[in-house]
Amino acid sequence: MTSKLVVFTVFASLSAFASFAQEAEDPFKDVIETRHGLMLQMASDLGALGAIAKGTTAYDQATATKAASNIAAIASVISMAQFPAGSEVEKSADSFALPDIWAKQDDFLAKIADLNDAAAMMQTAAAKNGDAIKASMAQLGGACSACHKAYRQPES
Ligand code: HEC
Repeated sequence: MTSKLVVFTVFASLSAFASFAQEAEDPFKDVIETRHGLMLQMASDLGALGAIAKGTTAYDQATATKAASNIAAIASVISMAQFPAGSEVEKSADSFALPDIWAKQDDFLAKIADLNDAAAMMQTAAAKNGDAIKASMAQLGGACSACHKAYRQPES
């Protein structure tokens, strides 16, 4: 009885210490996970639109408008809130964010605005047909890659 309690107490304090140690190691862990999740969702929706643009998936208005509005919604969420100063590559585990995000913040914000514009354009296209989606892919894909080129460290 007593030894069980001791074991439990030791275990509880160890795990409390472990989670404390983890947070102390990287205060940006959660915010980096959040921005990765937002980016990955956009990639998935962009993939759905890309398949329609290529003709590998048949145009379906409900699917297309859902994908485009997901990207528009996420674009409106992205701000400096997911990019606190210091959460950069080599300082935070799993971050590929380049320090220029903070050094050239106005340009980074302009690229977020470009993404919002391209997403709005894609929403209009998605309500029309596959050809309209195809015509809007370059601007939307371009908004993603323009920012990645400037502000995201390539993974290899
Ligand atoms: C304003 C800049 C900006 C725009 C616009 C942008 N991204 Fe990103 N993206 C980043 C940055 C910075 C990272 C690296 C973040 C990190 O590793 O912490 C990133 C990372 C990613 C990742 C990797 C996520 C992971 O788990 O490592 C994917 C996928 C991605 N973006 C997709 C997209 C797509 C798709 C679009 C366009 C629809 C887009 N991004 C638009 C800045 C941007």
